[in-house]
Amino acid sequence: MTLAIIGGTGLTQISDLTIIGQKTLDTPFGAPSADYVFGKINGRQLVFLARHGNPHRIPPHKINYRANIWGLKQLGVTEIIAVAAVGGISSAMAPAHIAIPDQLIDYSYGREHTFFADDLEHVTHIDFTEPYSPDLRQRIIQAANDAGIAITANGTYGCTQGPRLETVAEIKRLAQDGCDLVGMTGMPEASLARELEMAYANISVVANWGAGIVAGEITMAEIERNLEIGMNKAIALLKATVLL
Ligand code: HPA
Repeated sequence: MTLAIIGGTGLTQISDLTIIGQKTLDTPFGAPSADYVFGKINGRQLVFLARHGNPHRIPPHKINYRANIWGLKQLGVTEIIAVAAVGGISSAMAPAHIAIPDQLIDYSYGREHTFFADDLEHVTHIDFTEPYSPDLRQRIIQAANDAGIAITANGTYGCTQGPRLETVAEIKRLAQDGCDLVGMTGMPEASLARELEMAYANISVVANWGAGIVAGEITMAEIERNLEIGMNKAIALLKATVLL
């Protein structure tokens, strides 16, 4: 099993990763966000990719999701743990909390979202009933329990287009739709991984309450503060997960 970690906002590098090498790849879909970094955490070899580039410079709607996922497949990756900053919607999803979503709703648009578009021998519809790999999710949940890291073991992730944050009415609508979390990068990353038959799970790190859930504007300072705490927990969780 070759494991990859895709790091999001607040996780451009993993300081606990012993770096063994790195590789620049090109793909039929263009360039991935950054070089793929090979390293070891807790003795386990893995591949790391900074979703927004290193340094962080690519906004969610401009990420070349197809290139990123294609590159991982070329490297022989079979499982992907994607870490993502999100806004919290349901009451348990307070800032700096961590959740392992089990469902998603895609509200993004205009993104290159499939490998199955051109030169098809037959039209392919992947099954996406369970958008995240149940086995990989269970490993992460088990690791959290083993390491005593408090998480929410499920939830529905709503993927908005960004890069702006949402309005109060949009967050109310997402809540009515059943979304517990809102982020901008969860799709099409998850479905592209499924198209290439790689197991994929998401660790969501709550950066802020969704718009209107608490009074006042959402500031970048608040997001950065919460992500610092949340991403340290996410790294501890990754370290525990690679042991299983
Ligand atoms: N909305 C969407 N994406 C996000 C948010 C948010 O409030 N916070 C961090 N990523």
